[in-house]
Parts: sequence; structure tokens; C-alpha cells
Amino acid sequence: MTSSEVRVAAVGCGYWGPNVIRNLDAVPGFDLRWVCDADPERLAPVAARYPSTRATADLDELFDDASVDAIYLATPVSTHYDLTRRALRQGKHVLIEKPMATTVEQSEELAALAAANRLTLMVGHTFVFSPPVRKVKELLDSGLIGPIYYVETTRVNLGLFQKDVSVLWDLGPHDVSILIYWLGEVPTQVSARGRSYLGEALEDVAFLTLEFPSGILAQVQISWLAPSKLRRTSIVGRQRMIVYDDLEPVEKVKVYDRGVERQPASFGEFQLTYRSGDILSPRLDTTEPLYLECEHFLHCIREGQVPDASPQSGVDVVRVIQAAERSLRCNGAPQRVM
Ligand SMILES: NC(=O)c1ccc[n+]([C@@H]2O[C@H](COP(=O)([O-])OP(=O)(O)OC[C@H]3O[C@@H](n4cnc5c(N)ncnc54)[C@H](O)[C@@H]3O)[C@@H](O)[C@H]2O)c1
Repeated sequence: MTSSEVRVAAVGCGYWGPNVIRNLDAVPGFDLRWVCDADPERLAPVAARYPSTRATADLDELFDDASVDAIYLATPVSTHYDLTRRALRQGKHVLIEKPMATTVEQSEELAALAAANRLTLMVGHTFVFSPPVRKVKELLDSGLIGPIYYVETTRVNLGLFQKDVSVLWDLGPHDVSILIYWLGEVPTQVSARGRSYLGEALEDVAFLTLEFPSGILAQVQISWLAPSKLRRTSIVGRQRMIVYDDLEPVEKVKVYDRGVERQPASFGEFQLTYRSGDILSPRLDTTEPLYLECEHFLHCIREGQVPDASPQSGVDVVRVIQAAERSLRCNGAPQRVM
């Protein structure tokens, strides 16, 4: 270990935690000091895989360890606010999984606490680090597709059901964080319908419509109850259209030189002309998004830089999800994002 290494602890060894731990261990510059899970059965296999890292079921051990600089929390959503607040109060930099917390007030409090203590607080908006998502951002910013009309996105599969939050709070933050990153604006209004078909209180299916200040509409379908896994987004612009399919092995992003134009035909009349040109698939970096996310966390801690997945973006995502939740409770009535 060199003195410039950042000593990090990882909490949560459930479904997502082992991926986090593998990447923290792989990023040069991090020294993985602790792995932690309250459930000994989940902790044991991870502890066995990293024999030189200390393992504990008791969070306080790593919170109280003054040599720990940073903590990555991959615990259930209902624990995010409390654990992040405790870690920040102990002077640790924190990467908290999405969503940052379950209310806007809690999220803002965490953002303020990190700022007041000059600590890095980053949110696990992993897709913001994904090479195809970054490529789409580059294409949109270059003006290649022209003004954007609308975005439509589908994120469905069978399970994994979360015990403490609905599909809205589990999968919704992915699409909302991607849309805010791509479009550079936060929706002003959202309407959402959803159902819990399995009879629990938590919705397993939700359909959201988001309206952005520029007039762009986005339709988001999220479900834990679908026959096959789909991760597909279409972005329709005036000049071109983009399809991003995260399940495609290689050509995840395709730019379609397709469109329709309204042209004057005779006085006062118009006709539509359709254009269908080439389909282009840009070359993509194949680095795992979670690796890039961990690397960025390290960079921000060292440089004191505000992360791309910033506390503000965490607050914005929670604002949108909370508005969608209000809409769900009144049968899809549009709600202002506050
Ligand atoms: N960024 C992504 O792409 C992505 C993907 C999946 C999940 N997630 C997020 O990761 C988080 C965890 O999700 P999951 O599916 O792994 O959940 P999970 O229930 O499978 O795992 C959570 C683990 O945290 C442990 N835990 C809970 N409270 C604890 C405490 N106080 N101290 C120590 N351990 C504790 C549990 O025992 C459990 O093993 C959630 O916030 C989820 O939204 C993010």
C-alpha cells in the first residue's frame, strides 16, 4: 500500500454488493480494508474470497475505524439515509447506492452534510458511467440527431423483487438518472400508473410519463413481471433516431438516419416525405460501468471534485421519483416535480 491509497470499506454483500467489492478491489488506488454484512451467511463467501480484507457483521467496527477514508453502501433502500448520515458524521467519504434516500428532505440533508464537512458524496447512478450511455450523450450533444422530440424506454424482466421498495424506487432511478444526464434538465411534471399484481403493497409494474422544460416527453416502462428481459431506449430526433439496447452484445447503440419531414406541396398544403438512410453503430469502450464508477469515486475523493453522479443529481432523481409516487397514489394525475 502507498500513502496515497484510499482505504475503503464496503457494506452489503447481497445481490449487488459482491459486484461493488470486486470492482473496489480491482481499481488501483483503493485499499479494500473491510467488507461488512449484517447477515453472516451473506458475509461468509465474500470474506472467503478476500482473505486479506477484514470482515465483520457489525457496521460500527468500520465506522469507528479512523483509518477508513471511504465507505460504499450497497444496502437496502430503507437503510440509505440513516447509514449515509452516520458515515458522513464519522468523517467518511460515501458512495451510496441509488436511490440516495426515500424523501427529498432526507436527500437534501445528506447533500448538505457532505458539503459542510467537505466530504465526497456520490450516488450509485451506475448507468451514467456506462460507455453506451456516455456515447449517446456525446451523440446528442453533437447535434447529430437534431432537436429531440421524445424518448421511450423499457426496463423490464422477471424479478428481482425488492422487499422494502416498489419497482418505481428500485428500477425508476436508473432511467430517471440517465434521462437527466442525457437531456441536461430535470423534468417539471410526471404522471405514473402502476399496479401490484402479486398482491403486495409495493407496485411491481409502473408506467411513467415525464415532461421536461424543453417540451421533450419521455415514456418509461418498468416492471419486475415480464416474460423476457428488455433494456431498450429509443430517442427520436428531428434529423435522426437513436436506439440504445443494453442487452445487445456489441452494437448497443445504433443511429438511424431516418425521419419524416413536412414539406409544402401546393398553396396551404403540406406533404410528408420519409427519409430512410444508413444505420451507424459507433465503437464502444467495453469497460464495466461499475469499474468506471468506482474509479470516478476515487478520483473525486483525491481531487475534491464534485462527482458526475453528484449529491444534487441524487436529490433530483428522488424529487422525480417522489412526484411519480404521488401520481401513482392519485391514479396517474400529473404531479409537479418539487
Ligand atoms: N447501481 C445498480 O445498478 C444497482 C443494481 C442492483 C442494486 N442496486 C442497489 O444496491 C442496493 C442493495 O441492493 P441488493 O439488491 O444488493 O439488496 P440485497 O437485499 O440483496 O442486499 C443487501 C444486503 O445488505 C445487508 N444489510 C442490510 N442492512 C445492513 C446493515 N445495517 N449492516 C450491514 N449489512 C446490512 C443485508 O444483509 C443484505 O445482504 C440497493 O440500494 C439497490 O437499489 C444498485
